[in-house]
Amino acid sequence: MPASIPDFLYGTAWKEDRTPALTELAVKSGFRGIDTANQRRHYFEAGVGQALAALYRGGVVSRGDLFLQTKFTYRPGQDHRLPYDPTASFSTQVAQSMASSLEHLQTDYVDSYVLHGPWSGYGWTYADVEAWNAMCRERSAGRARNLGVSNVSLRHLEQMAAVGLELPAFVQNRCYARLGWDREVRQFCRERKIIYQGFSLLTANVEVLRHPFIMGLAARARTTPAQIVFAFARAVGMLPLTGTSDPEHMAQDLASGKLQLAEDELAQLESLAG
Ligand SMILES: NC(=O)c1ccc[n+]([C@@H]2O[C@H](COP(=O)([O-])OP(=O)(O)OC[C@H]3O[C@@H](n4cnc5c(N)ncnc54)[C@H](OP(=O)(O)O)[C@@H]3O)[C@@H](O)[C@H]2O)c1
Repeated sequence: MPASIPDFLYGTAWKEDRTPALTELAVKSGFRGIDTANQRRHYFEAGVGQALAALYRGGVVSRGDLFLQTKFTYRPGQDHRLPYDPTASFSTQVAQSMASSLEHLQTDYVDSYVLHGPWSGYGWTYADVEAWNAMCRERSAGRARNLGVSNVSLRHLEQMAAVGLELPAFVQNRCYARLGWDREVRQFCRERKIIYQGFSLLTANVEVLRHPFIMGLAARARTTPAQIVFAFARAVGMLPLTGTSDPEHMAQDLASGKLQLAEDELAQLESLAG
């Protein structure tokens, strides 16, 4: 299990040219965990590396203060800007993608290396077994401290366990309130001490943010509904992600950790929409 895991991750997707400035701002605002991917279609990983270099140069943080997470993305999730030879085996693609990530991030290891999504939505395939084994080799070689999987169902995780594969340290999923905030997957994770990372906590739950119960809690605590959702996520053991571009929201998202919710409030939030 990771020695030092931050309690919030700053997500760098969809920021394009603003990636360096926003990543720098996020770290200066207090984020110590950064999530990216070697998937140029949605992330500018080299831009994250530029921000890190500026932060190190300015003495704001050093590499050891940060938790850097990146991902390996299969060909169907990529555009033409590939970090590997698409004709090579999955094992080689993982190794090439990792080498490219380390170059982008100007480091010799990442704290977490995540399989961006399984090859098939229906189940764990031979492609995933090969990619996962290659990721395990990256970890053994010291280039990744921990491994994770993303966009997985309970079925994927159960199949991983059934074929005797090493289970991930992290699961990163889109978290829908209408699915009990991904209740089944979170339970699988809790039982195996896997850390559940939730993304789209706000964007996947727009209606829930307007729910009278959440609005009432926010008004009483003099916070925002977004902060209630993040406080809930943290209280039930999730590691949340935010990709905010707004400095005020960065501060609010981090401050949500100080919000205390009562047991009965947590229970009600847990099943508010599903
Ligand atoms: N594994 C995957 O497949 C996958 C997929 C999607 C995302 N991710 C990761 O997760 C990260 C987060 O993505 P996301 O889908 O959760 O969406 P997001 O990019 O974080 O978008 C969140 C939205 O919520 C708003 N927001 C944030 N804090 C707020 C606050 N305190 N009050 C009001 N509004 C607030 C933001 O607006 P402002 O900018 O105006 O604050 C933004 O519009 C990504 O950057 C990426 O790293 C991973």
